[in-house]
Formats: sequence, C-alpha cells, structure tokens
Amino acid sequence: MSITINAAGTRFKLDTRHTSYAFGVGPSGYLNHYYYGAKLPDVPETFDALDRDFLGLSFSPYRQLKHIEDSRNIALQECATHAAGDYRISSVIVCDSLGCNSTDPQFVSAKVFPGRPAIEGLPHARVNDDPTVETLEVTLRDPATGVEYLLDYTVFPEQDCIVRSMLIRNASAGRVVIERAMSFCLDLNNMDYDLVQVHGSYGRERFGFSRTPLHTGLQTIFSSRNSSGHDHNPAFALMEKGATEDHGGVLGGMLVYSANFSIEIEGDPFFRTRIVGGIGNDFSWTLESGETFRTPEAILTWSSDGLGGMSRNFHDMLRDHLIRPRWAHQERPILVNNWEGTYMNFNREKLLAIADSAAECGVEMFVLDDGWFGHRDDDHSSLGDWFVYEKKVGSLKTLAEEINRKGLVFGLWFEPEMISEDSELYKAHPDWVFTAPGRERTYGRHQLVLNMGIPAVVDYLFDTISAVLRSAPIAYMKWDFNRQPAEISNPLLPPERQKEAAHRFMLGTYELHRRLLEEFPDLLIEGCSGGGGRFDAGILFYTPQIWTSDNTDAIDRLFIQSCTSLFYPCSAQGAHVSVCPNHGTARTTPLETRGLVALAGTFGYELDMTKMTAEEKETVRQQCAMYHQYHHLVLNGDQYRLADPWDGRCCQWEFAAKDGSEAIVIDVLFRQIIHPGTRFVRLRGLNPDAMYREIGTGRVFSGAFLMNAGITLKPDGRDYIAQLLHFKAV
Ligand code: DGJ
Repeated sequence: MSITINAAGTRFKLDTRHTSYAFGVGPSGYLNHYYYGAKLPDVPETFDALDRDFLGLSFSPYRQLKHIEDSRNIALQECATHAAGDYRISSVIVCDSLGCNSTDPQFVSAKVFPGRPAIEGLPHARVNDDPTVETLEVTLRDPATGVEYLLDYTVFPEQDCIVRSMLIRNASAGRVVIERAMSFCLDLNNMDYDLVQVHGSYGRERFGFSRTPLHTGLQTIFSSRNSSGHDHNPAFALMEKGATEDHGGVLGGMLVYSANFSIEIEGDPFFRTRIVGGIGNDFSWTLESGETFRTPEAILTWSSDGLGGMSRNFHDMLRDHLIRPRWAHQERPILVNNWEGTYMNFNREKLLAIADSAAECGVEMFVLDDGWFGHRDDDHSSLGDWFVYEKKVGSLKTLAEEINRKGLVFGLWFEPEMISEDSELYKAHPDWVFTAPGRERTYGRHQLVLNMGIPAVVDYLFDTISAVLRSAPIAYMKWDFNRQPAEISNPLLPPERQKEAAHRFMLGTYELHRRLLEEFPDLLIEGCSGGGGRFDAGILFYTPQIWTSDNTDAIDRLFIQSCTSLFYPCSAQGAHVSVCPNHGTARTTPLETRGLVALAGTFGYELDMTKMTAEEKETVRQQCAMYHQYHHLVLNGDQYRLADPWDGRCCQWEFAAKDGSEAIVIDVLFRQIIHPGTRFVRLRGLNPDAMYREIGTGRVFSGAFLMNAGITLKPDGRDYIAQLLHFKAV
C-alpha cells in the first residue's frame, strides 16, 4: 500500500520506495501541505506536528475566528486560490456565472483506487499493469458555485514519482470560466533551495543549465511559443543548499505537456516556497453546466542522491510509465538520414546509392527526410501536400521496397502542422491557417501553421498521412515542427472563448498522434521541432525518441545531451554521426569520437555515406556492432554523469546495468591543457563486493575499487579524443 489515510479520512500519506508526501485537511476545510522528501515511517497524523503556528503580524486574513492560525496566506497548501486572502500565486481561478473569480474549493471527500483515472485527449503516465500504482483522488467543492475540483495523486512507488493533475467539473447550473488551472501546487516550508532550469536556443537546445538561489518574489520558467520551445523546458529541479550531482536532496518536476507552459516559484515573506506549474498564462476555458476540464499532468520526484538521482528517477519513470511500451525498452534500428547528406537536393538514384553504402556498413533503416512530396525542392513550397513528388523520387512504394530488399527498413519525414502558401492545400483551404483576423501574418522558414484546433484539419491530416503510410512499407516517421505559431485564434469559437485556441491547437496535435498510432501501432515516430524545440514528456508519450538538436557537432552534443539528460533518458535522444567539418560549427572531430557520442543516444548517421572511404566504412561497421553490444545499457540501465562538460575539459557518461553486472563509460576529452595531471574515472552504481573485468585489458577490479579509487586514464595529447571503457562482473 503506497497510500495511507487516517481513520477520520482527513490525513493522507503517499509513500514510494524512498520518499514520502503528506498533507491533510485543515480546520477550515482546506488542504494543507505537510511534507515532501526522504521516506518517513510515521503514520499520517504524525505530520500534524508540522502544522504552522500563526506567523504573526502580517494582517493575513482568516476565514473563521476560531481558526486564526488557518489563514490561507500563511498555510502551506495543495490547491491555492486567492479567494480567502492568499496573496501568493494561485493554482486555480474559476470565474462563476456572475463574473466573480473568488474560487474557494474546500474538502469534501477522498478515495483511493488501484491504477489511475482514465485520461482522454492528453498524454499521460501509463500504469502498464503495474499492481503497485495507486491513486488518491481528493474532491474539493466550492460551496458558492458547486464547482468540483478533483485533485489526483497517482503514486508510482518503484520510480519514486507522484503524478498530479486536476479535473474541474462544473456541477453548477450556469456557465463558469476557468482562468487558471495549474497541474500542481506544492508549498515547501523553507526557501533553502537552488532552482535549476535548462536553457538554450535553436542549435543549442538545452545547452546549459542555471543554478540560482531562490529568493523572495517570483521566478518563472515559461514558454509562450505555443510549443515547449527551444529556449526553456517544462521541467525544473530544486536542489537543497549544498546538494551536488551525487549527494543531497533534490525535488524535480516536469509537465507532460508540449505547448505554452508556466512553472512559477514564489519565495514568500516568511521564506517559504510555493511552486505551481501547468498550462501557461493567456489561457481560459469555458465550462458549461456538467462539463469537465482536465489539466495536463505533472510528474514530481524527490531524490536524496543529488541531481543524478533525480535524473535517474525521471528516466525510469519515462521509460517504464510514459513512453509507448512497444518501444520503451526496445532497441531502435540504426538509421541513416539523408538530410545533412543531400538536404533537398536528391533524386531516387542518389537515395538508393546512400542506402547501398549504408547497408554495406550494418545500418538498418533509411530515412528519407524533407523534400519528397508536392513539388518541394526548397523550403518555399508544398507543406500540407502529402502526396509523393514522383518526378523526383518515382513511386514511394517501389523505392521503399527496393530499400527493404537491401536489408533496410524505410522511414519518412512529415511536418503535419504546417502549410506552405505555395501548395494545393492552401489553394483549397486558406481558412485553415492560424491567423489573427485583420492583422498581417508572420512567416517562419517561409511557412504558415495549420490550425489544429479545427477538427477538419486533423481529419485531413489523418487521411492524407495515413494514406501515405498505408501506400508503402514505412516503419518510421519523423514528425517535424519547424516554426512556432504566432497568430492564435480559432474561427469555431466565439470571441470570449478565443483564449482556448492555443490549448485546442495542442489537443489537435495530440489527437492526430493518437489516431495515427491507433491505426499504425508499430510505427516508430521520432519527434522533431527544428532540431530539439519540442522535447518534452507530452511528445515523448507518442514518440519514443526525439531529435535532440540540428547541431550534430560531437563536442556541442556533449553539452546538449548532458543537459537534456537532466530530465530525459538518453535512450530517447536522437543522436547521429554527421560529416566533418561540421555543417553548423565547422569543427572537425574524429569519426570515432562522433560515433561514441552518438552511441549515447538513439544511434544513427546523417551524411552522404557514398562519400565515405573504405576505412571510414570499416569504422562505421565497428560502430554499428558496438551499438548492438552496448545499447541495452543505454536503453535500460542507470546513467551517471561522472564528469560535466561545463567544467571545461571532458565529459564522462556511465551507463550501468540495474543489477550492477555491467557498465560502460564514454569519456570524451575536448580540451587539452599543458601538464594536466592525472585523469581518473570513478564509476558509480556497481556492486562494491563484486569483481569486474575490464574488457580489452582483462584487468580485474572490485566494484569498490572502481567506485572509490577509480582507474587512471591514459594520457593523450590530442583534443576531441574519446574512449569507451567496459566492465563486466566476473
Ligand atoms: C529540421 C530538422 O531538425 C532537420 O533534421 C530536418 O528534418 C529539417 N527540419 C527538414 O526541413
């Protein structure tokens, strides 16, 4: 049992393997938060000891004279509104039929059930027949309106994660308008944390992270790009002061959502912390009597093993309970993608020649990227026209079959949400474009965005894309999304409901994913967004892998892949070997190094393989063999970031089997210094008492030795060199 309720039904405790979360009903009927952190054995009532004293002269309002200490502005809460004088940020605001937004949800009841509530239309954590997963559903009701608020806490004990979301049910007779509906609200009783957030831009998505002490006032991580975006990511960590990669308490959170989001962290005047996160601002949603609205989910975790522990919790959670089970623990085919090899300048012969060279080297899938449809030879035309450009590639069916005969499966690029002005689709449906009526439109990469909030658009895309997928043996789809919408409206909605348009756009995209996967359950989809501009748990629900960045430079990738791994597993990060000098950075790195960096992701090549020398092809053959030898550790193991590239010299990633029987370390030295001293690698996650053989040298060490003394790395005078170390229990 991971959920415990006291006999009175008013105190709740959620336990995972290593964490506890406790809250209860306060004297005025509100939900007060008590604790989230390392696991405690105590019963739920014990947490009453953490009830706050009245914090003094703040003139904070209170509801009942007899419960002065239950002032909303003082209490730590699970669902925060400003109704009764809580002047901090709110997690929910619902305007009643009189236009009053004094939302005031109070406790009604709670129940526990196995599994989790059904979620329709939104990506969500999956139970996957795990009998340990349980949900606590707490019902609150606003006595003035009758509107109900169901707070769901689904506990995933093995992964140390709690998934939260809220369902709002309009049980009143009139219409209400949701002005804010955050996925979670979490109040902590102190402010002694550093906020960690990842940041970047196109070509350097999640290139770095900041760690800044919390302060009083508001700090926000957000996107208003109608996509989670290249710049920020819907995820955060709060690290206890002094916590490191390996030690100390870290609270992590991420949203299972891919559009506008806001994660707001407020330090209050009493030096406590409130965190709310969910759909971004500039949102509202009308609920007629009887209707419901479900927020996206948020996944929360706590680890006492530093930032690395938090990452591993998220990796396990996403692999075991979010990514499609068909692919989550399944090795993906090694691919060659023609994009950096040819861009849109290709013909059938060229594609087949690349496939020939790829087949020679052990590559298993050929992906035809942008430029195969409509009359597309450059980025000015044809988006939306999902029919084959036969003059350029001939029959898609026979092309795919010919590639199959070479021993490769076939994959194809699409950009479903986009439309070019120069397209048949635009001629037929200019009204399907996202616009701000009466205003000049914007372009991005010469293209416009389809309004996915219009059901007919989703129908059209499903019909045309599924027709292509049916027409040829297509095992993989790359789903690109190159520009972010700027004009947001929905012609099907009245003026007062226009703030639903952005969320409806996202729901339309999710619906298209759902319908395509319903028809093609084995299809492997790779998410992509002008590189890695939509890398989030919402998209990962549908696409088991996401292209991490258009920047394929092996050295920049150390930063991008390390930082992405703070929240997302390497087995979901698209990583390819490309040509040198690199098209983005002009840097030249050894093919071996490029291979080892890509081996820490979903492995593949993105270059014109016909131009490779015999020696290079031999290296590719070896790399493909290495992928099959080691990838199970990336796919199912624990990742340890042993050395951070931000320290300026090298990067080391370890992937260890969960039972400690085997581990690899990928070490990349990217900056030599003169008289450098000794470089070590010290492993983690091994069994201290087991003995391990180093594959290659045959040396034998105890796990304790490898984790404490470590081993010395051979000096090498060159920049950008990489090595892979492999240890197996004997
Ligand atoms: C952006 C992607 O990130 C690239 O990999 C490639 O697919 C291009 N779009 C194609 O237009």
